[in-house]
Amino acid sequence: MIGSDTVEAFREHFGTEPDLLIRSPGRVNLIGEHTDYNDGFVLPLAIERALWIALRSRPDDTVRMWSGMGDQRAEFSLSALTHSGGWSDYVQGVANELQRTGKELRGWEGAILSDIPTGAGLSSSAALELAAARAFSEVSPFVWDPVEMAVIGQRAENNWVGMKCGIMDQLICAAGHQDQALLIDCRALTWTPAAVPSAAIVVVLDTSTRRELVGSAYNERVTACEEAAAVFGVAALRDLDWDTLDEGRYRLEPVAFRRARHVVLENERTLAMANALNRRDLTEAGELMQASHDSMRDDFEISSAALDAMVEAAMASPGCYGARMTGGGFGGSCVALIAADRVDAFVSETLARYQAAIATKQL
Ligand code: GLA
Repeated sequence: MIGSDTVEAFREHFGTEPDLLIRSPGRVNLIGEHTDYNDGFVLPLAIERALWIALRSRPDDTVRMWSGMGDQRAEFSLSALTHSGGWSDYVQGVANELQRTGKELRGWEGAILSDIPTGAGLSSSAALELAAARAFSEVSPFVWDPVEMAVIGQRAENNWVGMKCGIMDQLICAAGHQDQALLIDCRALTWTPAAVPSAAIVVVLDTSTRRELVGSAYNERVTACEEAAAVFGVAALRDLDWDTLDEGRYRLEPVAFRRARHVVLENERTLAMANALNRRDLTEAGELMQASHDSMRDDFEISSAALDAMVEAAMASPGCYGARMTGGGFGGSCVALIAADRVDAFVSETLARYQAAIATKQL
């Protein structure tokens, strides 16, 4: 539906037919939060919400875009990239990183539509980065490779936008498949599929809370993890096991210790969750999600009152194996694993409980 709307929008704004239609999915992470930039493990899933670009190549080096998010236009030249301070930065950042690898880029014009809510922890930025990478690969003389393009998207965000994100969002967007989560090794950049058992449904619960300045709190966590790894003389927290961290806990300040504990145990939980899904053990999978949420709330301190209220509402509702906040944190969405035959009751009861909770707590 939204694909054909994007083609229609292209006709309207560029007065001609597009050559190509690109679809770039959002994602939800089942478990493995803030582990990617520690070279660890994540278990995300591409979702049906997506960003679309209908486009046509141009004979020059201009990129001209119209976005349905706010009815905005943006234009830039590939030989004079600038920081715009807006959504065009994600596209310019990708162009910059592609050019830095020596690729020769051509221009295009495109209409962009998306039904991935922004700021909801569902990776709308990576969807734009990967759609832009795809657009350039289609109109320029280079071949699309999912891992290479995911790395380009991540570098664009690190270097152009200033968010020190890991590789998870870009890699699942580039390599995800329908009905499968991917257990990604963020050091090796390899993955193995883990199918969600057909007896369960993954439900995304958007609190609709958005937090400003997420970037600075996120980058602070990245730095804390790097410092903890340096204290233990390892390249990344991925290289630390629980016994070593526990024995050496006196080497870290209490807050730094809790940050490291989250990452070390979250890596273990992520591997255990992929295993539980493959064994169709939904009870264990749910317990791992619960433990992950507690760790993000208490040790990594990236949850919020609204996210906690949503997790509590979900856990008290029918058919819920487990629920946790998902994504970078401080607002956005939760993810829940639900018995397939209880989904309708789950959704209506969770909604009612969450609304009652936010009214009482004035969230
Ligand atoms: C954001 C980042 C990811 C990852 C998650 C937390 O989505 O873009 O790289 O770190 O937060 O798991």
